[in-house]
Amino acid sequence: MGDMIEFNDVTYSYRAEDYNALDHISLKFRRGEWTSVIGHNGSGKSTLVKLLMGVLEGYAGEIRIDGEVLTEENLQDIRRRFAIVFQNPDNQFVGATVEDDVAFGLENNGVERDEMVRKVEEALRAVNMLEFRTHEPSRLSGGQKQRVAIAGALAMEPDLLILDEATSMLDPQGRRDVLEILGQIHKDKMTTIIYITHDLAEIGVSDHAVVMKDGRVINEGTVEEIYQDTESLISSRLVLPFTISMADRLLEGCYMSYDELVERL
Ligand SMILES: Nc1ncnc2c1ncn2[C@@H]1O[C@H](COP(=O)(O)OP(=O)(O)OP(=O)(O)O)[C@@H](O)[C@H]1O
Ligand SMILES: [Mg+2]
Repeated sequence: MGDMIEFNDVTYSYRAEDYNALDHISLKFRRGEWTSVIGHNGSGKSTLVKLLMGVLEGYAGEIRIDGEVLTEENLQDIRRRFAIVFQNPDNQFVGATVEDDVAFGLENNGVERDEMVRKVEEALRAVNMLEFRTHEPSRLSGGQKQRVAIAGALAMEPDLLILDEATSMLDPQGRRDVLEILGQIHKDKMTTIIYITHDLAEIGVSDHAVVMKDGRVINEGTVEEIYQDTESLISSRLVLPFTISMADRLLEGCYMSYDELVERL
């Protein structure tokens, strides 16, 4: 499985006189992999996705999709193959019922009725929301809303599923549910995933992780590699998961006796 998306020395600023929101970024996202992009507020995560989706233009450098340079001509086509779920579950509904909502994109694409019903059902089943098919989206919990939003994306059978802080407004249970469902989808369908978060505790499932700070990539690697480089995590102002920061602090010390260790703990 090769590179699906490639950023080659991409630089972008919102206004010409501004600092670079993305500063000479070179990055690859491999097909079939779950890549997490971690970074503090303002580190450039959403900007990265906006360039990829063609929402923002006028950057320096090059973006390639399956080896092809992203241009105005092929953008529409590429965009159809990518699906994105955003942070706020309340801003993503268009349908009066859950199933209408999930069907929306398919309807727009002129998918025939029987096929549409089948795809909607399959997508809702994948996120464990089939029993809510006739419910009103606005009455669901935050976590359920995000699962419906994910179903809407899945129904389109995207090559790439992007989640831009999709769990950040959810309670811990809602987060766990969404992550678990995404993990299952990734496993079953080998869907390529870009998972954006500022929560290091959420990257455990990823195949590859990228740490961003001030528009730059400051580290990337496997989850283990990222967790081991606590220095770059601290410098990027990310909150370390409890077990990692504990291990890190323990390693700093030297313990002559069991009592000393217990004392330190
Ligand atoms: N519409 C805009 N106009 C001007 N500057 C912007 C705009 N959107 C973002 N920026 C700036 O670009 C930089 C990168 O922002 P971006 O939204 O990509 O960060 P992010 O990592 O997604 O942050 P967050 O975690 O808050 O979502 C920040 O300094 C931000 O202030
Ligand atoms: Mg963002």
